[in-house]
Amino acid sequence: MNKKYIIEASSIYKEYIDGDAVKVVLNNIDYSQHYGSTCAIIGPSGSGKTTLLHALAGLDTISSGTTLLCGHDLKKIRQQQLSQLHNKKIGFVYQKSHLLPDFNVLENIAMPLLIGGMKSKLAQKQAMQVLTEIKLEQYAYYYPHQLSGGTQQKAAIARASVHKPDIIFADEPTGNLDSVSKELVLNCLFDLNKHNSVALCIVTHDQKVAARADEIVDMSKINS
Ligand SMILES: Nc1ncnc2c1ncn2[C@@H]1O[C@H](COP(=O)(O)OP(=O)(O)O)[C@@H](O)[C@H]1O
Ligand SMILES: [Mg+2]
Repeated sequence: MNKKYIIEASSIYKEYIDGDAVKVVLNNIDYSQHYGSTCAIIGPSGSGKTTLLHALAGLDTISSGTTLLCGHDLKKIRQQQLSQLHNKKIGFVYQKSHLLPDFNVLENIAMPLLIGGMKSKLAQKQAMQVLTEIKLEQYAYYYPHQLSGGTQQKAAIARASVHKPDIIFADEPTGNLDSVSKELVLNCLFDLNKHNSVALCIVTHDQKVAARADEIVDMSKINS
């Protein structure tokens, strides 16, 4: 294991069997990313971006190849250890915020800490700190449906970062937003990288997002 890499993946291969047909979705991909760095995964729709992100994050299995995430071999790790790794060191942001509608913003953000076993009062305090850092504290007691799409996405980023992860995986995080909200959400993500050294692995269609990353991985070049 090379400590400077948060992700070290080699020859990632994934296929789906559909009747007699074999569909190769990831074709022997090598991917590595340094701690504290940002990488954008780009490529046309259907080129395997989400599948790669899920493989790197340990959300999905691969047919063959090796992935080390925070030094853990995802093939060998036990389910319970993987859940712990996700809960302690990894954050996820999707195209939709997936905030829980029956909980307010503060409760949504505190949720990963509660799941990780933290006492409620401390979890709420830590959640409020993160909300304040991203200037969302005035929305702490709002419910998700009362927020704009951009603010919901910022709350989702707060939830993904409340446990101070080493890396955030984001799949088209600005895909549903207008250009002003897009910029705010992007700033929020990249500020986490700048100020807290959180690594970012972002799937995007958006050239503006890709341009801000340290590295760009283009699926149309590496996945053929
Ligand atoms: N569960 C599945 N079964 C069969 N094919 C799948 C499955 N999931 C994804 N695919 C196929 O894998 C390819 C890549 O999908 P995806 O990773 O979602 O691409 P992208 O995120 O770049 O749009 C697509 O052709 C998709 O149809
Ligand atoms: Mg996708």
